Amino acid sequence: MSRKVEQEQLNGFNISTFQHDLVNWFRENQRELPWRESKNPYRVWVSEVMLQQTRVETVIPYYQAFMREFPSLEALADAEEDRILKAWEGLGYYSRVRNLQTAVREVVSEYSGKVPDTREEISSLKGVGPYTAGAILSIAYGKPEPAVDGNVMRVLSRILLIDNDIAKSSTRKVFETILYDLVSKEDPSSFNQGLMELGALICTPTSPGCLLCPVRVHCQAYDKGMQSELPIKSKKKKQTSKQMAAVVIRNNFGEVLIEKRPDSGLLARLWQFPNFEMESTDNQSYVLADILLKEYGIDAEIQEPIQKVEHVFSHLIWNISVYETKAIGRPGIEHASRKWIEQKDLEKYAFPVSHQKIIQQSVIQ
Ligand code: ADE
Repeated sequence: MSRKVEQEQLNGFNISTFQHDLVNWFRENQRELPWRESKNPYRVWVSEVMLQQTRVETVIPYYQAFMREFPSLEALADAEEDRILKAWEGLGYYSRVRNLQTAVREVVSEYSGKVPDTREEISSLKGVGPYTAGAILSIAYGKPEPAVDGNVMRVLSRILLIDNDIAKSSTRKVFETILYDLVSKEDPSSFNQGLMELGALICTPTSPGCLLCPVRVHCQAYDKGMQSELPIKSKKKKQTSKQMAAVVIRNNFGEVLIEKRPDSGLLARLWQFPNFEMESTDNQSYVLADILLKEYGIDAEIQEPIQKVEHVFSHLIWNISVYETKAIGRPGIEHASRKWIEQKDLEKYAFPVSHQKIIQQSVIQ
């Protein structure tokens, strides 16, 4: 955004009283959250990564358990990947934690274990985008840097009556430019967290609680009665649906067959029951029996599905029909990614949520 446009957005806007009102409100009204107990950059970093795309109430127990298991950067750097995936199991977007470990290892090897405190260096770490960089720099290091996520864009769209489409990736820069001027230079941490807190508690997506808002006098959308019309957010593409068939295969040793997902792509390196994309829901038993014979050496009898699982990702829906069958011995393990394990050991492996549902309903009986 040009300097001129930005100045127009802030024309007549009283920056210092806005900062003062927001920061004071945050100091007095902030929720007690476990990641607010310390400014340790590693702890702030983990919380911000968990909070991307995940709600605060969901994150709290994961964050506490993660911190007990990996209390320091070094502990996380040294951990086996299967352990960190297990700690993340159910949070989704698993590349977040794999990237976090890669980045933490780089901090240990290249920065003597100290999280860098400049935007340039911190942004060069794997998985650290502009939002995470700004959040760590402001909250842990007190630097006046913007931290713009969807909530912050919603709040500022209303306060400054900005009608750029927040679904467009180019819009984030518009807000960053404004925030360099707007962020409190005395307390950037409370300012940025104040915007987040306002978005979570008051300036919510639908029916914002304007009468309780500490910065209502600064809000141009409220002044014009337009708070419900902002932000402008174009609709995402609809999710596509995939028909899947998954199979729980037990053998005569009381074991069950699991396999590790590929190294890249969706849910990389998590464990699962063998499952396959199907063209339709017709004839799945035949198709499945054929695949099991050809690819696993299992001559299986497949009956009707024992369970249906629907799992919704941000871009995709899996409709999984779950089957069960029996095998003799331990076929299929010429592939290193496959394993026969005892049922009681399932809990040691990280499974996608959809396959946890299979464990709950179709395996543990
Ligand atoms: N959402 C993103 N970051 C957050 C934080 N530090 N506190 C509360 N909610 C958040």
